[in-house]
Amino acid sequence: MCGIISYIGKEDALQVLTCGLKRLEYRGYDSAGIAIGDDKHPFQVVRSVGRVEQLIQRISSLSLSGKVGIGHTRWATHGGISEKNAHPQTSQDGKFLLVHNGVIENYASLKTMLTKEGFTFSSDTDTEILVNLIAFYYQKLQEVPADKRFVESVRESLLKVQGTYGLVILCTDYPQELIGARKSSPLILGVSEDGLFLASDASAFSGQTKEVVFLRDHEIAHLKGHDFQITDLSNNLSSPVIETLEANTDESDLGPYAHYMQKEIFEQDQALQNTILGRFSADGSSAHLGGLQMTARELKKIERMVLIGCGTAWHACKVGEFLLETYARIPVEVEYASEFRYRNMPLEKNTLVLVVSQSGETLDTLGALQEARRKGFRTLAITNVVGSTIARESDGGVYQRSGKEVGVASTKAFTGQLATFIMLSLHLGRMRDLSFSEGCRLVKALQSLPEITRSVLNACDPIMKELAKKYASSAHFYFLGRQALFPIAMEGALKLKEISYIHAEAYPSGELKHGPIALIDPSMPTMVLASNADMLSKNISSMMEIKARGGKVLALGVQGSIIPETVCDELCVLPKVHEAILPIVTTLPLQLFAYYMALERGCDVDKPRNLAKSVTVE
Ligand code: AGP
Repeated sequence: MCGIISYIGKEDALQVLTCGLKRLEYRGYDSAGIAIGDDKHPFQVVRSVGRVEQLIQRISSLSLSGKVGIGHTRWATHGGISEKNAHPQTSQDGKFLLVHNGVIENYASLKTMLTKEGFTFSSDTDTEILVNLIAFYYQKLQEVPADKRFVESVRESLLKVQGTYGLVILCTDYPQELIGARKSSPLILGVSEDGLFLASDASAFSGQTKEVVFLRDHEIAHLKGHDFQITDLSNNLSSPVIETLEANTDESDLGPYAHYMQKEIFEQDQALQNTILGRFSADGSSAHLGGLQMTARELKKIERMVLIGCGTAWHACKVGEFLLETYARIPVEVEYASEFRYRNMPLEKNTLVLVVSQSGETLDTLGALQEARRKGFRTLAITNVVGSTIARESDGGVYQRSGKEVGVASTKAFTGQLATFIMLSLHLGRMRDLSFSEGCRLVKALQSLPEITRSVLNACDPIMKELAKKYASSAHFYFLGRQALFPIAMEGALKLKEISYIHAEAYPSGELKHGPIALIDPSMPTMVLASNADMLSKNISSMMEIKARGGKVLALGVQGSIIPETVCDELCVLPKVHEAILPIVTTLPLQLFAYYMALERGCDVDKPRNLAKSVTVE
């Protein structure tokens, strides 16, 4: 959450920052700001509430110059959405300018201390306290040699701070320098011939350089002109490793689509093709996943798995639970990342902890991963973003290769995670008691996925568009599903909530009669996921219960299973597919439904209110 881009070099900083901020907007879009200057131009700060575009409009009437700058796009944590709370935050003496991602947890005690020292504050942010803390130490450290005073003030301050930060700070006394630091929030140093970048994500300087240094927690990067030095909080010098990022095709072009979410829904056939590409054994009965970093012997020893994620990734884990238990016969538990790290869950010796995160940066998931490692467990990660913190900190894992996901509501990343779970279940299952023929059936099902995905999307698109027209005014929605389709019902409800702001809840179909049915009336529609043929009679019973109470039923059925017209108001029929890929196929119409519902209600599909793509605060 919150995006940071900063630059020092030969280029005009304004261009670099505005370009970077546009690319980082997925991390937060409440407000944005920049500070630009250098040794010839005094630093100027411009901030604005709203999207980066609004900031750019404001800048267009100003004349900003300089080859050094910091920029920020915000997702509010401390303090409401207002210009005074936007970043950069400035110290009281005007010398220090700070952009920050994270939360300073001991802000209250630091504020009390600074207030006693005569500091006053004009925003409601924890960031303003931090920037003044740095100014405070700067005043105190007058004895420190001039070339060290800036960096030592930052170091001294960070030693007093509890919480999380990815930050970049500049000081007007040192107009050719920038300092960046991180703790549990990503910060990446980009190195090019023309300058240095510090950003919360390498995409911010994409096209400028592929040479990067991933800063580690507690490291401070001190950029001076074209040189940089990295130290830790105890002032030990680090030897930075410059890594070259893989070439990234620019996927930010919308092409014929109106929104990224629509584009990402419709590119799922290709994304799934990429996920499975080259990952099957030569005999066509198993999958091989090179990045697990575990021998067959180690994999066979796994007695239990704990799957961890947040939001949509957690739903993927819930489907993963079914798949792993069914095909690999490994007992699985699924945990919310935010809960796992604060529980003291008894974990037996041969437990494998697997975290799932599209971005690879979600702080709750990272915290859970670190907690599992601290306890000595072998950890794996399913991630989409190559080189992300979670990918780097886990013992091994699988890249889902779904391609860049821009829309805040996750679509293709979810189906990619499900396909990855099928491959993992197949891989582990074939080492246990999954038969050769069932292995072959699973491989064939996976290979058929891209084509099925394309035809289901094409067939469901007009149906869901029409349904959205009819149901867009609903204030509430239920989603029901059984077994592996219950997590899909949860995902369908989450998508609807996220982008159309309709209150939606999901239940296992059988739970309806245990309480939720009390809300059924003509104004409460229910989407019933009845595409698992073996559960048809049970699903029909649930629909009858709803109809008997005047509720509206929208059903997802499957070819060959007859759902009488009397028990549903709307019916969308999906093709009959292997049960392992059914959760993916059933997800597709729900994504389209949420998308069209949001459009009907005039919502901003790609940037829904209050949300950000990557949640890097607790
Ligand atoms: C999905 O639509 C959400 N925006 C959200 O629930 C997301 O899946 C969650 O924050 C986890 O993100 P991650 O996969 O990047 O860790």
